[in-house]
Order: sequence, then structure tokens, then C-alpha cells
Amino acid sequence: MKLPLTTLGLDSQRLLHGRGGLFPDMEHIAIDWFAPVILLTLYAEKANNAELIAHTIAEAKKNPDITAVVVQERHLPKAPKQTVYGELPDQVHAVESGLSYHLSLRQNQNHGFFLDMKPGRDWVRKNAAGKRVLNLFAYTCSLSVAAIKGGAEEVINLDMASSALATGRKNHQLNFDPQTCRRASYLPHDLFKSWGRLVRGAPYDIIIIDPPSNQGKSFNVETHYPKILRRLPELLTPSTQILACLNAPHLGEDYLTDLFTSYQNHGRLPHAPGFNDQTPQAALKALHFSPPPH
Ligand SMILES: C[S@@+](CC[C@H](N)C(=O)[O-])C[C@H]1O[C@@H](n2cnc3c(N)ncnc32)[C@H](O)[C@@H]1O
Repeated sequence: MKLPLTTLGLDSQRLLHGRGGLFPDMEHIAIDWFAPVILLTLYAEKANNAELIAHTIAEAKKNPDITAVVVQERHLPKAPKQTVYGELPDQVHAVESGLSYHLSLRQNQNHGFFLDMKPGRDWVRKNAAGKRVLNLFAYTCSLSVAAIKGGAEEVINLDMASSALATGRKNHQLNFDPQTCRRASYLPHDLFKSWGRLVRGAPYDIIIIDPPSNQGKSFNVETHYPKILRRLPELLTPSTQILACLNAPHLGEDYLTDLFTSYQNHGRLPHAPGFNDQTPQAALKALHFSPPPH
């Protein structure tokens, strides 16, 4: 096995996307660079795991820019993380296109930043100048930070996880002065209990929909995405732009184009750098729609 751990820049990146199915015997791993830390994520218990960890450590030792290797075992209950080499700095940030985001590499199942959403952040940043943005399923608000960097007038971030939104607030503070931070607001609510509030704040110029594939009773794609579509017209003007995302590997982009059948489809965003996939329909899908033409 050859690991590309030699030429690492400041920007965070996926170094090895085993889950894309293009590397034999490595479908169960991902290796990410969050300077100065290598994160090795294991998604299954496999015979070669110990060898993979040892090899990653050996390669990391050759590069002085790498000060720690963290292994996360996502196949175990609570997906524990462990520092297997070096010392983990108190604070590690994801860095992308000149913006920084807090990471949690010590605890929590998710560390706070989805590298595969880079094309979404780029799109929002490019299109947000002077716009009011509704960011549904905001999590740690990376799309909001990108929108404000792109000149958004206001971003309303909704997520039922108040702790994720608290990190989202900190992400804005990390990148912007206090006055600019006031352009972002946070609604720690279940979307399906908050429509009245969202309708009162409508219309929005950009609406981002980036739900999980499945999250117990809170979100199930086949049940809840159609519910969003039924209420969406209450939030729109004819010129609203919609970024609709789908994380479910078992559903391709056809699922979204069928749901948005009456809308104008401006196409799918490219996949993120480093996320090559032999079945692109299983990877994250981010599509750009606008309301039906009159
Ligand atoms: C895929 S993450 C969103 C990632 C985020 N857009 C980003 O780019 O970092 C999904 C989020 O949906 C939230 N969520 C799930 N069901 C929800 C619901 N019914 N109402 C509000 N938020 C929900 C979860 O708390 C989680 O933070």
C-alpha cells in the first residue's frame, strides 16, 4: 500500500477515499488531512486494520508537518476516537478556501466538518452576495460561513441539534468580526415543527436542504423529503435558488429530479476533490433547482 502523506498543504483534504470502491481491500477506510492531524476512519472490522494503522503511523513519522494520527472506529458503538501517534493539539481546525472550522477530534461521532460538501460551499459562496439564505439541516453551519464570506445579507440556520448550532456560532466567530457574525441566526428546532416560523420569515433567495440519509424518527428520506417539497412553495419567490442534497447511498440523483419534477433543474454539482467514486450515484448528490417557469 502506498499512502500519499508527503505533500500536504494547509487546506484540509481527503487523502484516501476507500469507500469510493477504487482501492481494493480498502472499501472500509477513509484517510483525511486536517493539518497537523491525519484522521484514519475505519468503517468495518477487517483483518488488515492493524497493518493499515501501523503503515499510516510509519508514513506519518516521515513527515514533520504531521504531529498526530487519530483513528476513529465507526463500526464500534459510539464510534470511539483514539490518538495512536503523537499528540493531538487542543484545537484543530478544518481549513478550506481561506475559511476555518472547529473540529472535534476527541469525542463525538461526527467531527463537525463534511469534506465532501466543498462544491456546495463553493456554490453558495459564489451565489450568495446580497442574498437572504435559509440553511436547513445546518449542523455546524459550514454552508452559512461560506455564504457570509460570499456576501450574504442574512443566513438563517436551522438544525434540531443545538450543540451543532453552538459550534456553528463559534465557526462564524472564528472567521468574522462581531458585526458580520450578526448576519447569521440560529433556530434550534425540528424542521417539521417549525414551518410556521419559516413561513413568517419567507421568502428566501437561496434555500439549502442538506438532510441526513436516515436519523431515527427525525428524518427518513422517503418519508420526509416529500414533506419538505409539499411546503417548499410557501418559502419561495420565482427567483429563489435551491440547493437540494441527498446523502442516501441507495438513492441516486433521479430520486431528487423526480421530487423536483416541476422545478427547473440546473444540474448536479461536481463531486469534491478526492472523492472519486466508482458508483457516483451512491455518493453525496447536490443539485441546483429553481421554481417552475411561469
Ligand atoms: C448531513 S447533516 C447536515 C450537514 C451540513 N449541511 C453541513 O454541510 O455541514 C444533517 C443534520 O440534520 C439535522 N437534522 C436531522 N433531522 C432533523 C430535523 N427533523 N429537523 C432539523 N434538523 C434535523 C441533524 O441534527 C444534522 O445536524
